[in-house]
Amino acid sequence: MKLQKLSYSLLVLLVLVSSAAIAHAQPPVTVYKLRNSHGVETQITNYGGIVISLKVPDRNGKFDDVVLGFKTAQDYMRKNDPYLGAIIGRYGNRIAKGRFTLNGVEYKLAVNNGENHLHGGIKGFDKVVWTGRQIRTKDGPAVVLTYLSKDGEEGYPGNLRVRVVYTLTNKNELKIDYSATTDKDTVLNLTHHSYFNLAGEGNGDILNHELKINADRFVPTDAGSIPTGELRKVSGTPFDFLTSTAIGARINQDEEQLKLGNGYDHTFVINGTAGRLRLAATARETSSGRVMEVWTTEPGMQLYTGNFLDGSLTGKSGKPYPRRSGFCLETQHYPDSPNQPSFPTTTLKKGATYKSTTIYRFITQ
Ligand code: BGC
Repeated sequence: MKLQKLSYSLLVLLVLVSSAAIAHAQPPVTVYKLRNSHGVETQITNYGGIVISLKVPDRNGKFDDVVLGFKTAQDYMRKNDPYLGAIIGRYGNRIAKGRFTLNGVEYKLAVNNGENHLHGGIKGFDKVVWTGRQIRTKDGPAVVLTYLSKDGEEGYPGNLRVRVVYTLTNKNELKIDYSATTDKDTVLNLTHHSYFNLAGEGNGDILNHELKINADRFVPTDAGSIPTGELRKVSGTPFDFLTSTAIGARINQDEEQLKLGNGYDHTFVINGTAGRLRLAATARETSSGRVMEVWTTEPGMQLYTGNFLDGSLTGKSGKPYPRRSGFCLETQHYPDSPNQPSFPTTTLKKGATYKSTTIYRFITQ
């Protein structure tokens, strides 16, 4: 009888321990390989939702990998990596001093960029393991990533359920659909952080890429890259990309904002109606003939010209990544919106659904 009781208790203990282990178990780190009907290929991992590679054709049909990155998913865990190819959250870009007030409560976030909060904090969405699943859609192969960010993670309120769908469409687009819900009012600003080089990763700097940005205004910042609150006209400044201009044409000008950003590291106010998918930017690399269009529903887009890359990282094909060897076009709300009442809101209310779409479309000329 005693023995029976003992083995029953042991059994109960075993069940409890193993269900706790299952509840805390992370999904395994996986790399998904997607290929569309034109032979365009991408590798995406559920670690950080990172786009590891993206191979698109040049004007002669030669495929090159146009995103900076490492060989394996594990490499991103070891290296001190500047968000190469990752999903950024909960808040892409900066929140001043890592503080904001919502419904009368002040929230204190992790501070990881001088005195400010950057890209979701110390362990943002770029460093967590998402639950992943590869599917086929009518538009092309896709990966569905989901993640539950618990109430209080990195200081943010609310249990946030996030879903990101990457689709490699048969129109040679990498389409990213974001959605999220929360059980408590919170703030949210998701983005994607691929560094592009349309001549192929590791093939020199991006200063000759020509860029057109559909923005009459940009968001000037202070020395800590926190917006001053002004939305400044681009006309007459090196931020005027309304006509296609080489990224490097004005980057070293003696201009206050370029100096503060170490180059371009600024949000552009995309013309047209936020919430509707519209063309935000077109980047051209003339030697390959590759052209990338960026379409988004977001109100803004950060142009970051890889100013802090310094050659210390070696990429997947063994080539180093020097300064300005990649550029990011991060579609998002403006930085520090939770502290800037005049900016479009980044508050996600309990019961509401966050939705955002961005498309990187590849063509040749
Ligand atoms: C930011 C840069 C930052 C980089 C991280 C960009 O989105 O705007 O200031 O250095 O991410 O590598």
